Amino acid sequence: MNLLVTGGAGFIGSNYCRHVLQHHPEDSISVLDALTYAGSLSTIRDMETDPRFRFHQGRIEDPKIVDRIIQEDKIDAIVNFAAETHNDRSLIDAGDFLTSNVIGVHVLLVATRRHKLQRMLHVSTDEVYGSISSGEFTEESPLMPNTPYSASKAAGDLQCRAHFVSFGTPVIVTRGGNTYGPYQYPEKLISFFCARLMDNKKVPVYGEGSQVREWIHVMDHASGIDTALRMGSPGQVYNVGDSNERRNMEVVEILLDELGKSRELIKHIPDPREGAHDTRYSMSADKLQGLGWKPSKTFEESLRDTVRWYVDNERWWRPITQRLEYQTFVKSFYGPGLGEDL
Ligand SMILES: NC(=O)c1ccc[n+]([C@@H]2O[C@H](COP(=O)([O-])OP(=O)(O)OC[C@H]3O[C@@H](n4cnc5c(N)ncnc54)[C@H](O)[C@@H]3O)[C@@H](O)[C@H]2O)c1
Repeated sequence: MNLLVTGGAGFIGSNYCRHVLQHHPEDSISVLDALTYAGSLSTIRDMETDPRFRFHQGRIEDPKIVDRIIQEDKIDAIVNFAAETHNDRSLIDAGDFLTSNVIGVHVLLVATRRHKLQRMLHVSTDEVYGSISSGEFTEESPLMPNTPYSASKAAGDLQCRAHFVSFGTPVIVTRGGNTYGPYQYPEKLISFFCARLMDNKKVPVYGEGSQVREWIHVMDHASGIDTALRMGSPGQVYNVGDSNERRNMEVVEILLDELGKSRELIKHIPDPREGAHDTRYSMSADKLQGLGWKPSKTFEESLRDTVRWYVDNERWWRPITQRLEYQTFVKSFYGPGLGEDL
């Protein structure tokens, strides 16, 4: 298959490209990425000499570039990772979230239909379900998003459903858990904390850090998306989860231990998400497992490997943390006491 991978210069998209190049020698990949603050050519440098890999800079909500790539690169299927993805940034200004995560999905759905593509796979998140105090979400659970980010993702999911029902567009949605691993922009818990702890800087824990998240390693998330793309049925939703539920504080303690750092580097701060901070995410991935997918390693093993990757790949993340945009965001969001020591 010739795949158009949107958002392929970001965290999960780039790792998905690595998965495809390794496991499907007959496939080719065309990446379309806007290179927002979260995307970078340094994230895909290892693939750029592969003749099966091409890069195009542009936005998914621009139908002209989407159409041109589909025609010129003879695309069979779209896998859409392109999105604004940081919950905390959506609390400051959600405008770009609506453009990329809603209008962008609409443009890709129209292109899938117009060009009669075999498939579109839209990558979504477990956050569209909202918070659950006990039990687990299934694909049939109602969508109850609680932040502007998760609401924009839910709107994208609903566009997919509507295009399948109205036009028979062959679209599949996956909803993944909290993802960690190599090449994650250092603003999400694990990558952000690794980068700060390596510099002996304090790390901000929201409240008591008792929020429970379901964690999945990025290569398991990538293989789950690929299984849904190739084995799933159009119109269906598949949860991609690994049942690794951990309190945020448990994760922070593992990071401190792995990096040999003191508990004194933890700074508890008032929760900036206030009422919108979901206390627990949990979902069943039985439906995807029914297609033959299963995660590869334990959480502890994969987390250790991830910490090692950030230690060994400072060359990748250091230039990001030195950018003015990055430093301004951290300072303005977390305020004095945390930001001032940057
Ligand atoms: N990170 C997670 O924990 C997680 C969990 C579940 C689902 N997801 C979903 O997976 C997808 C990828 O997430 P990620 O963590 O890799 O994000 P990321 O922020 O690392 O990467 C997003 C990429 O999309 C690009 N992009 C943004 N807007 C664009 C646009 N309008 N047109 C073209 N490119 C654009 C960026 O330049 C960047 O390269 C997102 O849809 C996200 O909602 C993420």
